[in-house]
Amino acid sequence: MGGKLRLFTAGPVACFPEVLQVMSSQMFSHRSQEYMELHMETVRLLMEFLDTKQTVLLFPSSGTGLMEASIRNAVSPGGKVLVTIIGAFGKRYAKVVESNGRKAIRLTFRPGEPVDEEKLKSILDEDPEIEAVTITHNETSTGVLNNLPRLAQIIKKYDKLIFVDAVSSCGATEIKFDEWKIDFLFTSSQKALGIPPGLAFAAVSDRVLEIAEKIPNRGYYFDLLLYVRYQEEKKGTPTTPPIPQIMGLNVMLKKIRKIGKRAWFEMYRRRAEKIRKGVGDLGLRILAKKGYESPTITVVLTPEGIGPKVYEMMRERGFELAKGYGELKNRSFRIGHMGYITDRDIEEMFNSLREVLHELRLL
Ligand SMILES: Cc1ncc(COP(=O)(O)O)c(C=O)c1O
Repeated sequence: MGGKLRLFTAGPVACFPEVLQVMSSQMFSHRSQEYMELHMETVRLLMEFLDTKQTVLLFPSSGTGLMEASIRNAVSPGGKVLVTIIGAFGKRYAKVVESNGRKAIRLTFRPGEPVDEEKLKSILDEDPEIEAVTITHNETSTGVLNNLPRLAQIIKKYDKLIFVDAVSSCGATEIKFDEWKIDFLFTSSQKALGIPPGLAFAAVSDRVLEIAEKIPNRGYYFDLLLYVRYQEEKKGTPTTPPIPQIMGLNVMLKKIRKIGKRAWFEMYRRRAEKIRKGVGDLGLRILAKKGYESPTITVVLTPEGIGPKVYEMMRERGFELAKGYGELKNRSFRIGHMGYITDRDIEEMFNSLREVLHELRLL
């Protein structure tokens, strides 16, 4: 099972060989000395990686669980959250807000567009009751990277909490949690860090932890204060963590530290540029607005009905791309460029894509 196709997916992505190797180690108890050392070292590495001196926590969950955690721990019951939506995952955040009994105010942009600063300011001017603003750093459904430091700067002028979905950006582009004054930022393991699914982690501001003290019914599974207590007292998590994924994360963070963060992000930038150039050379257009193209996924536009065919025909040739999403399902396909992908994989993927487009009489 597994391992037959070369992955250009939106996640789970292909894992780095050293991750797969360490993950096949024998298990140990999550209350053992070995685990405590692994846990605390990984947290320290993450603090360095996310540039924060505040709190970093690990969760046995996928990324969506931490959308829920941000709302349940830091927004008052019935409180208002401004949800910026540039695609499917912004829409999901709004549903999470509402299903947890808070009010979502949706600020929606067209597919391919980032959050517009002026529109953001005008909503914040109009409604002083907003407690928090959510931002999808990188929208995986449209292949758009928001200008997070700039948006965070605006939101902080209004003194609102900032929650960031960094699921498909973290690991591929710089994040400066403290300097950008973010309050809650989360990601999952199966994206740009190239680790199997099952682990999520978050950076949490001191302000969120103070607010959480006063929020009733934070729930149990994602109660941030419970996680903080367990981390301080037991050097672990309240429930059983995905130990193999944490070992994988530990290995990846050390690998990135050795290469240097700047060089690592440059690798991602160059890889994305190569993909976009390949798409352009085939005469295809990409969805993202110029200047906001994602470092991790490229949405390629096709005539109506062609996108799903490209996806199927590429699978027959041994490459798993990603299908178009939502309203663009029939007129796009996506090329993910996260995780373990070599230059040769990219060349061979484009050779096959050229053949597919020929067969479809698009070349
Ligand atoms: C931007 C973004 N947010 C949230 C999610 C949900 O993450 P998970 O599947 O880990 O819950 C995804 C998954 O693709 C995503 O791309």
